[in-house]
Amino acid sequence: LEAFALTDLPRQDRNPNRPVTVLVAAAAILALKVLVTIVWEYQRYFPADFESAFLSGKRAFFHGGYRFAFYAHILVGPATIVLAAILLHSGFRQSYQYLHRSVGRIQAAFVLLVLVPSGLVMSVKAYAGPIASAGFATLSLATAVTMVLAIDRARRGLLLSHRRWAVRTAILLTSPLFSRVIAGAAITMNLETETFYWINAWVSWLVPLVGYEMLLQFRSGYRFGSPRLVSSSERALS
Ligand code: HEM
Repeated sequence: LEAFALTDLPRQDRNPNRPVTVLVAAAAILALKVLVTIVWEYQRYFPADFESAFLSGKRAFFHGGYRFAFYAHILVGPATIVLAAILLHSGFRQSYQYLHRSVGRIQAAFVLLVLVPSGLVMSVKAYAGPIASAGFATLSLATAVTMVLAIDRARRGLLLSHRRWAVRTAILLTSPLFSRVIAGAAITMNLETETFYWINAWVSWLVPLVGYEMLLQFRSGYRFGSPRLVSSSERALS
């Protein structure tokens, strides 16, 4: 990988302003809480408890490929979220470049070799039917595409483009957390139905992703106003 010069980035990319920092800190605390809740539920998966919310109704096909994919998925899933946080943090600091590259390689292997294939296998049997299945399968493919593009841009030394694809990957990886928050709100409002489940299978990743693209559009005039930093080819690739 080519060395990146962080000092080449626009100031707002290196030092996010205070309200953004506070917002990111609040989101990180909420995300950690949701992640702990997800992992806490694992006591019902070792051994498989078919009375648990997720495994109920899955006994008939909980063997062979599905079972293998399920355990690989739930073991690697939380690790990819923690690694994504480390990557986002270290990516903003020049002194962490070695750590960033090493963690990035592990993350690429976890996501492309385990999380995406296992997500695809599990999506076939998703609760609430084909629309939910399609939502999870599309999420799997989108995660693979963003990850591959983030790696490609890093190899080519395109820092801004690399960062954008990496952030998109992180957004997709954290969508299960967002999904839990939405599901929690739905339970509180007595709205938890099958229809809600398949809507959530799409909304939980499409909304944050579209939100990020809108943010980029909003800020693009400011960022691209600095011709020294972003070539037209990188602009097209980001
Ligand atoms: C971004 C790529 C991901 C895809 C495509 C994906 C896909 C899926 C699918 C299809 C299911 C089964 C849903 C059903 O049967 O209704 C599932 C379950 C699950 N996923 Fe993921 N997932 C992804 C990322 C993650 C991450 C990052 C975590 C980390 C926490 C995670 C944790 C879980 C857990 C714990 C379950 C099963 C148990 C439960 O929902 O409590 N997934 N996932």
